[in-house]
Amino acid sequence: MQYVKLGSTGLDVSRICLGCMTYGVPDRGTHAWTLDEEASRPLIRQAVEAGITFFDTANIYSDGTSEEIVGAALRDFARRDEIVLATKVHGRMRPGPNGGGLSRKAILTEIDHSLSRLGTDYVDLYQIHRFDPHTPVEETMEALHDLVKAGKVRYLGASSMYAWQFSKMQYTAQRHGWTKFVSMQNHYNLLYREEEREMLPLCADQGVGVLPWSPLARGRLTRDWGTATDRSARDEFGGGLYPDSDRAVVEAVTRIAEARGVPRAQLALSWLLRQGTVTAPIIGASKPRHLQDAVAAVELNLTEKESEELEQPYTPHAVSGH
Ligand SMILES: NC(=O)c1ccc[n+]([C@@H]2O[C@H](COP(=O)([O-])OP(=O)(O)OC[C@H]3O[C@@H](n4cnc5c(N)ncnc54)[C@H](OP(=O)(O)O)[C@@H]3O)[C@@H](O)[C@H]2O)c1
Repeated sequence: MQYVKLGSTGLDVSRICLGCMTYGVPDRGTHAWTLDEEASRPLIRQAVEAGITFFDTANIYSDGTSEEIVGAALRDFARRDEIVLATKVHGRMRPGPNGGGLSRKAILTEIDHSLSRLGTDYVDLYQIHRFDPHTPVEETMEALHDLVKAGKVRYLGASSMYAWQFSKMQYTAQRHGWTKFVSMQNHYNLLYREEEREMLPLCADQGVGVLPWSPLARGRLTRDWGTATDRSARDEFGGGLYPDSDRAVVEAVTRIAEARGVPRAQLALSWLLRQGTVTAPIIGASKPRHLQDAVAAVELNLTEKESEELEQPYTPHAVSGH
């Protein structure tokens, strides 16, 4: 495994981040396709043994049970001081008033619930899961800064939003001397490259680390177009992200992977890893093979020509995944 600094911070992270949305009690929350605790633990252990030190979950994943499963597994398999544990806030956790969003009340409540489910005193990277148009940016940024000062959070990160929204939040924090975001977790892969227009140049300019989510387009880059799996058949959110015009990119991945004699997943991840702005893709792994391919991708070098061939069939997409 290779390790890099997260953006312009001094924090070391592994080049592969394990996305823990896959792990959670299936009948809790909105992801019916998740693995339960018994099935999840060997994969989390395998990740630790492969040198992965960076783990991403969210309060909302499987109604908090992802945090519980991941927290318990990491206590058993890893050393807390070595790992970088990331979670998120914004999603609705309860019906009724103040059950979600980025108000001061919601943030201060949700961090305590997350810490208790994760079984730890602090989160390394606390990310806002989305922009909250119903809360003043000043209120959110000051509440997040207070968590850092209270020692509950080491670094702050943000996730999918428009570049102007991210810029506004960063500028507000800077103007008040509050803690700024060090990372952007956004939707970026060979099938969805709209982030190359505004968000990625912004992150490069400001020294913000980039952590792409769904780097394999939720599995579509790993198999023939239209092939369903247990997850894809039940993945409502993923169902709306990739139009039929993406088929040509998947065919390019297939062609080059066959020529190189490597699995498609390795090739598609390798392309992402060689983009200068990308710190660590957040991969999903429901089988041991998925982790093996992700780790192998770190060492796979694409040629300029292969990269161009993978990029060539791309067609612009409507903005999605915000
Ligand atoms: N911030 C956000 O809004 C946001 C949104 C989405 C995700 N995320 C984060 O990103 C993480 C990853 O998301 P994701 O699971 O959608 O990522 P992904 O890596 O694009 O998709 C993972 C899926 O791809 C397939 N796959 C992976 N490796 C493979 C291999 N080597 N060979 C064949 N198939 C392979 C598997 O599909 P099957 O299981 O179908 O076989 C696996 O479940 C999440 O866990 C979460 O932490 C964040």
